[in-house]
Amino acid sequence: MSETIRNLISILDMSVEEIDHLIDVADDIVANHDQYEEICRGKKLATLFFEPSTRTRLSFEAAMLELGGSVLGFSEASSSSAAKGESVSDTVRTVGCYADIIAMRHPKEGAPLVASRRTTVPIINAGDGGHFHPTQTLTDLLTIKRKKGELGNITLGLCGDLQFGRTVHSLIEAMLRYPNVKFVLISPEELRVPEYIREKLRSAGVEWCEVESMEEVMPQLDVLYMTRVQRERFFNEEDYIRLKDTYILDMDKLESAKKDLTIMHPLPRVNEISVKVDDDPRACYFEQALCGKHIRMALILNLLGIK
Ligand code: NCD
Repeated sequence: MSETIRNLISILDMSVEEIDHLIDVADDIVANHDQYEEICRGKKLATLFFEPSTRTRLSFEAAMLELGGSVLGFSEASSSSAAKGESVSDTVRTVGCYADIIAMRHPKEGAPLVASRRTTVPIINAGDGGHFHPTQTLTDLLTIKRKKGELGNITLGLCGDLQFGRTVHSLIEAMLRYPNVKFVLISPEELRVPEYIREKLRSAGVEWCEVESMEEVMPQLDVLYMTRVQRERFFNEEDYIRLKDTYILDMDKLESAKKDLTIMHPLPRVNEISVKVDDDPRACYFEQALCGKHIRMALILNLLGIK
């Protein structure tokens, strides 16, 4: 409602400079942890999760606790008044009376945007349907920066469910703003990125391609971003079963990969990366989950106007 309230609904709500700043703060949090321990004393974060989550919700909560603040919220719609038929707007407007900042995940695309129009505290989109997931993207950007030293000049492979994978949509939008990024989109025909994302790639004039075979492109990649087939967004179970194991990254497939490949996955993993890959130094997905806490700490400070 007020113009001074900052929300994070889409990754494009943050400029490249602001993202650089968040990355610097996240690194400073690691380097000077004790300076941040009390910085959010008296502040409350509400996590309103209408869809399942492990990393996003818990990393938000851990982030706020490590900043000295408190957390409240719910982890499923059935334990909130949504189960009684309350609208998202009413829920969020109410929670805005109890918390200083809200992170919200909802199965309906656009729900966090609608919510942000009805509250006086910052709203963070923690995933809206198959649409966007900007804080996962901040996590991914921090991971790429830490592993590669920069966010441009890479060949980025995105593999799996590119149609429904919201993390992929936000990551492509973000990476389109950095120089000399080549996009290699690896998916079955039916799970290609939505047309609006393809249009963004076309109009950005970047180098990009769509392929079905992971093996064919493996040697080119600097970063390989694996994703799970999003079962909950499928219209029928048969299609899911047919497509779910299209890609399984294993040690054999990594034979032809670069020695300094960065393997990422927003997690949860189902079957798309063999557990044997976990011990390979190129596997970064658990480190990525840790980056999620650091960048969310930086984000909370930023949206609360603290640092
Ligand atoms: C992702 C999500 O919720 O979109 N998970 C996450 O937040 N780390 C990816 C997924 O569920 O497949």
